[in-house]
Amino acid sequence: MNVEPSVLEAMQSPVLGHLDPDFHDLMSETIEMLRVVYGTSEGAVLPLQATGMSGMEMGLVNLLEPGDVVVVANAGFFGGRIAQVAARCGAEVIEVKGAWGESVPNQLLLDALDRHSPVRLLAVVHAETSTGVEHPLAELSAQLGQSDTLLFVDCVTSLGAVPVRIDDWGIDFAYSCTQKSLGGPPGMSPVAFSQRALERVQSRARPVPFSFDVGLLLDYWVKRPATYHHTAPILHVYALHEALRLVLEEGLPERWGRHARVGRDFQAAVRSRGLELLATPDRRLPNLTAIRVPEDVDGRLVQRRMLSEHSIEIGGGLGPDAPEMWRVGLMGQNARPEAAERVLSGLASVLGAGADGR
Ligand SMILES: Cc1ncc(COP(=O)(O)O)c(C=O)c1O
Repeated sequence: MNVEPSVLEAMQSPVLGHLDPDFHDLMSETIEMLRVVYGTSEGAVLPLQATGMSGMEMGLVNLLEPGDVVVVANAGFFGGRIAQVAARCGAEVIEVKGAWGESVPNQLLLDALDRHSPVRLLAVVHAETSTGVEHPLAELSAQLGQSDTLLFVDCVTSLGAVPVRIDDWGIDFAYSCTQKSLGGPPGMSPVAFSQRALERVQSRARPVPFSFDVGLLLDYWVKRPATYHHTAPILHVYALHEALRLVLEEGLPERWGRHARVGRDFQAAVRSRGLELLATPDRRLPNLTAIRVPEDVDGRLVQRRMLSEHSIEIGGGLGPDAPEMWRVGLMGQNARPEAAERVLSGLASVLGAGADGR
């Protein structure tokens, strides 16, 4: 896991009550730091008391009503997941598919918006963890211009590793997680709504499910005095507060630069060992590298041996359609040359044992 030691230490602090004013100060500081990391000074930002999946669901249940049209860029497992959750909200889902290892071309998304107008929401996974591909979001935002369609973005793997600029890019809803490049434990999902997204929620015909209602959550997280909504996972808030403090202490450009350097060098070293990367060269994420499993190698056996012999967890293909691959995350405190070197030498020792990994 990627948890920073001082984040774990913060979780040992005395457990304040969830309505304690000192805890409220900590919540407000957490939100202020999240705003900086997300690059937004408008709308609403808060950490949801659940994981990235719930962040996805929160955005969809707040912004969609039955019959709304949604265009989803689906070039991997998590794009597919957004389409499934949107369908459960009763939306009419138009999936625009991309090949594994590529992003869906923006022009195809713009064409789909024209063809199915009016489209309530366009959903894109910024960093597709199942393929190691980054969607060109800044370009998409420039191409969208002044569209009425809301831009919904999965930033689960991108936040803290590569630039995410909500206001500059006109993102209407973003969600992330705490356990990847922010360097915390799993358990919370930072979400951000633009002002116009909040206005759309207010004009809904039907109320939002209680636990996900952004208005009610803001009454607890932002309004003072706070109104009880749920009992906050206090220790996770301490953890997120400390993780964000570390991110800002390092500085966002420095952190993006560190992830970029470590990822680039790691990917070059993997290729120099004769292994192929899945992601197309101009779309490669630095912090998640998908490596094609060579023919005649038992990919799962290599994963098991990396874990048992080297204590390194690497992922495999996600979902039934995924090509055979290994997925290596170098995120947060693991985005360091030493961690990359450990993975490379572990792989060399396991693969060196025989082309089939045995
Ligand atoms: C791109 C993406 N979206 C959503 C999720 C779901 O997040 P969580 O597992 O924290 O619920 C993940 C998890 O890895 C992810 O990589």
